[in-house]
Amino acid sequence: MKGVILAGGLATRLRPLTFVTNKHLLPIYNKPMIFYPLESMVRAGIKDVLIIIGPGHAGSFLNLLKSGKYFGLNLSYEIQEEARGIAQGISLAESFSDGKKLLVILGDNIFDYDLKDTVENFEKKEKGAMVFGVEMPTGSKQYGVIEIGKGGKVISIEEKPEYPKSNIAQTGIYMYDDRVFKFIKKLSPSKRGELEVTDLNNAYVKEGTMEYEIINWWIDAGTSHDELLRANNLVADKIKHGELK
Ligand code: G1P
Repeated sequence: MKGVILAGGLATRLRPLTFVTNKHLLPIYNKPMIFYPLESMVRAGIKDVLIIIGPGHAGSFLNLLKSGKYFGLNLSYEIQEEARGIAQGISLAESFSDGKKLLVILGDNIFDYDLKDTVENFEKKEKGAMVFGVEMPTGSKQYGVIEIGKGGKVISIEEKPEYPKSNIAQTGIYMYDDRVFKFIKKLSPSKRGELEVTDLNNAYVKEGTMEYEIINWWIDAGTSHDELLRANNLVADKIKHGELK
C-alpha cells in the first residue's frame, strides 16, 4: 500500500495567515501541520508517500521535507495546478500508485489513531474502500456525514448536509483499491466546482464495498481559525501530558 497526502488548495478559510504561507506549513504547537499526516503514515507502516501540493509553494515543501529521510519515508511530489477538489487531487496519484492500494490523508488532519492494523487488513481485501469517521455530538454540518445502517454497513455519505442523518463526521482519512482512478474519471464537478471525495466514496457505497471505522479524536485544522487554535491547544496539552510525542 502506498500513501498520498493532499496539501494543495488555497486555504481561503485561514486568510490572512495563508496569503503567503501554505496552510500545511503553519505551526501546530511545535511542528509544521504537514508533520502530523506524515507521522500518521509512518505509524501506519507506509513507506512510499506522494505529497500533492499547490503550485505556489512547491519550493517550501521541498526545503522542509526533502527526500523524507528524516521520517524514514520515500517522498515524491506532484503539483495540483488548480484547486479542483480532493478527488481531483487523488487522480494525480495514478502513475505513482502503480496498481497498489492507497491510504489517503488530508494534509491538515491532526489525529493519533494508529492505522497499522487496518492497513494490513485492507491489504488482504480483494476490493473496496474505507472511510474513517469521528463522533461529533455537537453536529457535523461542516463535514461529510456518514450514515450507518443497523447491520453496520455504510448507507450514505452526505457532503455538509443541512440536516445530518448521524453524528458521525467523515474525516480526511481514506483507503482505496486500485479502481479509484476509474471511479474518479466518472465524477462531475459539484456546485463548488470541485470533484468531491464524498461523490467518490459514494461510488463504493453504491457498490456495497465501503467499510468504515470510528476513530477516537480528530481535528481538521484547516476549517477555521478556531479549529486551528483548538488543534494547537489540544496537541500542546497532549504532549505535556505525555499522550502524544
Ligand atoms: C472535505 C470533505 C468532507 C470531509 C472533510 C474532512 O471537506 O469534502 O467530506 O468531512 O474534508 O476534513 P473540505 O475541507 O474540502 O470542505
